[in-house]
Amino acid sequence: MQRSRIAGIGYYVPENIYTNSDLARFMETSDEWIQERTGIRERRFADRLEETTTTMGIAAAKVAMERAETTPEEIDFIVFATLSPDYYFPGCGVLVQREMKMKEIGALDIRNQCSGFVYALSVADQFIKTGMYKNILVVGSEKHSFAMDFNTRSRNVSVIFGDGAGAVVLQPAQEEGQGILSTHLHSDGAEAELLAMYYPGAHANKWLKDKPGYPEQELGGLFLTAEQLSGGAALPFMDGPAVFKKAVVKFPEVIREALEANGLSAGDIDLLVPHQANLRISQYVQQTLGLEDRQVFNNIQRYGNTTAASVPIALCEAWEAGRIKPGDLVCLAAFGSGFAWGSALIRW
Ligand code: UT7
Repeated sequence: MQRSRIAGIGYYVPENIYTNSDLARFMETSDEWIQERTGIRERRFADRLEETTTTMGIAAAKVAMERAETTPEEIDFIVFATLSPDYYFPGCGVLVQREMKMKEIGALDIRNQCSGFVYALSVADQFIKTGMYKNILVVGSEKHSFAMDFNTRSRNVSVIFGDGAGAVVLQPAQEEGQGILSTHLHSDGAEAELLAMYYPGAHANKWLKDKPGYPEQELGGLFLTAEQLSGGAALPFMDGPAVFKKAVVKFPEVIREALEANGLSAGDIDLLVPHQANLRISQYVQQTLGLEDRQVFNNIQRYGNTTAASVPIALCEAWEAGRIKPGDLVCLAAFGSGFAWGSALIRW
């Protein structure tokens, strides 16, 4: 069977660094609280006017494409994962196609939040396996800083997230045994509202009709009203402890599923690159699977949670640091809003 491989990888993070103490200027929080609960020391925030989710994605894509020795004309499909798109619609994929002057290729946007990149990689992998495409650009990028509320009421969310982008070029693997061995994707929407942004949205409002800002009018206006905006209904909501409890179960589960499907065990993993949601979650997963420090890569300390960008940024940093060598078994895993989660096992 034709496998796909990561032929090039790149990332981009904005220059602006915000430490925990910087955030404490805007809300009641502290460096001590944030480090103790999440491991985060600082994060990057995009330039408010010059940078967007698309421009950061393109910056990462350029590095990945250069390393893959692939030109924009050679890319034959784009998969773009984000929860913070430049526009509500169209998605960022077509903006990449336009700005990078690519041919009139297909562009697909993936809305799977923290597991977005793993989903995107899996989709791209299927297209390579079937032989439909030969050069797929997969991007994960987020500009969270634009949509977050930096007041105390939202401090459990806004201290966690950061901006950035990561990208890979996927191509058919050349060597026997090399490439993406498998991907496993899951979801359970039973608790979809526990980590969500409700507005703007076309939902039936059953979750929100008793909440402040629910519109009274008979027609229209439900998508986003001034009351919803001022009442905070258009801000991300997260039941942190509930998400944490689910994450520490689903991460090990989907990693074990990947290993079992390939007749491997945790000891075979050369590097686990988990979605960077919380250092405590990564440490818990490491402990549960019995992995040594050398087998796990974390960089949440410097970037916070960059959602769809976190896995490719971490993967790229690990690769640049020499933590991934040809032949290594690399495991990617992610869990987040939806809930949606997944894993990818790669023979580098
Ligand atoms: O990647 C997407 C998936 N997301 C996740 O995986 C997130 C998973 N959840 C978490 O990482 C953690 O739940 C958080 C880091 C979000 C929160 O940590 P926690 O230990 O679960 O805290 P908590 O939400 O239970 O809040 C504990 C206390 C509360 O105060 P009281 O009620 O005990 O007085 C919060 O109001 O901490 C307070 N608090 C804060 N204090 C200072 C919440 N956020 C902050 C803050 N600074 N930023």
